[in-house]
Amino acid sequence: MAESEFPPAVRIRSMVADDVFRGFLETLVALSPTGLSCKEALSIYSQREQNPHLLTLVAIATMGPYQGKVVGTLSVVYEQRFIHRGGITARIEDFAVHPHLQRQGIGQELLGYAILHAKSLKAYKITLIASDDNVSYYEQFGFKKSANNLRLDLAADSSEAIN
Ligand SMILES: CC(C)(COP(=O)(O)OP(=O)(O)OC[C@H]1O[C@@H](n2cnc3c(N)ncnc32)[C@H](O)[C@@H]1OP(=O)(O)O)[C@@H](O)C(=O)NCCC(=O)NCCS
Repeated sequence: MAESEFPPAVRIRSMVADDVFRGFLETLVALSPTGLSCKEALSIYSQREQNPHLLTLVAIATMGPYQGKVVGTLSVVYEQRFIHRGGITARIEDFAVHPHLQRQGIGQELLGYAILHAKSLKAYKITLIASDDNVSYYEQFGFKKSANNLRLDLAADSSEAIN
């Protein structure tokens, strides 16, 4: 059976350290190559874990050839603002589904979970930056294009940066 005919059921949960060894980096490649070893990724995970305003979700396949593997990921960055009387905003980052398993509903599961989580924290809005190709994807979930995103690249190798 071809992979695309075999939609894997997934379980969404917060990332744990061992997910680095369960295909997390292979999934993130769908967004951008990280160039990280597992050891380096683990060290970054440990630092991120200290940040209470950061949620990293993973989708774990519960059946099929990828069972037990990380097949999707999405991070949410929460921030308390002065405006909106100290209201909380949520920003979605690092959203990726394994290159072999896209368009099978995994992204939808992750995004749905993230939206519910942000609602449960009473965030008043969720923002993200999408490429033109992905705008209609987010519109299905109620996102609307808003303002202009500007960017000042500060890293020396920024000419190759896409995210
Ligand atoms: C964008 C991405 C996260 C979506 O996850 P996914 O699991 O492939 O998408 P889903 O299966 O949940 O898609 C849900 C619906 O949106 C549709 N869809 C998927 N990608 C789409 C796109 N780029 N534009 C429009 N619709 C899209 C699907 O066909 C599906 O519709 P259906 O239920 O009628 O079949 C994934 O394709 C990915 O990792 N892309 C590469 C990295 C990337 O662009 N990340 C987002 C950065 S902003």
